[in-house]
Amino acid sequence: NGSNNGGEEYLFKIVVIGDSAVGKSNLLSRFARDEFDAHSKATIGVEFQTQTVVIDGKEVKAQVWDTAGQERFRAVTSAYYRGAVGALIVYDITRKDTFASVKRWLAELNTHCDTAMATMLVGNKSDLENIRDVSVEEGKSLAEEEGLFFIETSALDSTNVSTAFEIVIRAIY
Ligand code: GTP
Ligand code: MG
Repeated sequence: NGSNNGGEEYLFKIVVIGDSAVGKSNLLSRFARDEFDAHSKATIGVEFQTQTVVIDGKEVKAQVWDTAGQERFRAVTSAYYRGAVGALIVYDITRKDTFASVKRWLAELNTHCDTAMATMLVGNKSDLENIRDVSVEEGKSLAEEEGLFFIETSALDSTNVSTAFEIVIRAIY
């Protein structure tokens, strides 16, 4: 699991995956900088940000990696997943196709990572309840089927964003 530097500090690599435009980059910017961009551009390649959280009085550094949902913009996959101990698989609750893709992302994750890693299924854009296309029950039952944590979030209004990351970090820690 995460590396323990002198017994004081923990560093955990967490990857964020899911279809394009589900809100991966905004979940990360909300978590790491409390920022949201209504006009964010598709991610090209790989980016990461480090955020410190305090768990049971200990400082834990989460190094969260974000990549392109679009195939043509993705960087070498094995390098992206290397050393990851946690994952967020994100879909958009207003787009059923992004939910249907979850199994494919899970398969990719399992190809590259230890299946014992802490994985959270994230239904993002919960602020768009009026145009919801994936029910909470559908999300929950898929998560149960696949042995994943489940949460709905909104990067726009901040609902559950830090909780989503913290549950994964706690499960690793
Ligand atoms: P790729 O980099 O192409 O894989 O996309 P992404 O998953 O990183 O999506 P991104 O964070 O760039 O967000 C895509 C669009 O959805 C942007 O217009 C965001 O402003 C919007 N968005 C992201 N999260 C939310 C949310 O929680 N609610 C709403 N209403 N819009 C969101
Ligand atoms: Mg992005």
